[in-house]
Amino acid sequence: MLSKARIAVFVSGGGTNLEALLRAQEAGKIPHGEIVLVCASNPCAYALTRAANHGIPGVAISKKEMPQAAFETALSEKLNESRIDMIVLAGFLSVLSADFVKQWLGRIINIHPSLIPSFCGKGMYGLKVHEAALERGVKLTGATVHLVNEIPDGGRILLQKAVQILPDDTPEVLQKRVMEQAEWILLPQATELLASQIVLEKEHA
Ligand code: GAR
Repeated sequence: MLSKARIAVFVSGGGTNLEALLRAQEAGKIPHGEIVLVCASNPCAYALTRAANHGIPGVAISKKEMPQAAFETALSEKLNESRIDMIVLAGFLSVLSADFVKQWLGRIINIHPSLIPSFCGKGMYGLKVHEAALERGVKLTGATVHLVNEIPDGGRILLQKAVQILPDDTPEVLQKRVMEQAEWILLPQATELLASQIVLEKEHA
């Protein structure tokens, strides 16, 4: 039987990217991976409801209630318990320390709603990214899935897709178009890409 990489998805909010991943999995588009855990940094994240609706275990570890080190220890415990091979950051808006990231180098990916290296880095997340793109007047934006390293949005790029900006766009309208035309397509593809590499490495270990 084909062995699969065990995947944890980290979320903080609405979870539309998580939904895209779960639907892709159910449609057989992530044959080398299996989403076995959803971790939310915010107990009210609607993403947890989405996980439950698809029968995937979800845990909330509230970033607000503990120092960074305790937050990451709690996350690591959950990851170990579930024997996780790779992490997908799908709208995870909490910062992870360099120490945490080092333990997962090459096995953690993130989606960002712009064409990196534009409109990325510290403080650039969610709607702020689209506001900045509109303010600058760029005519193309998009989404990027990259490996995560110690620098915010700094890891090697795996996939990118461009999306057109239209004259009457608001940040909200643009956000929706970038999600529909890029994020929800790229994230499942990149997840399968990394999962298949991990499975290959496991088979040759
Ligand atoms: C997505 O647009 C994602 O690209 C962005 O947050 C949103 C989460 O939406 N992530 C970042 O800005 C990371 N720097 P979702 O919860 O509906 O998937």
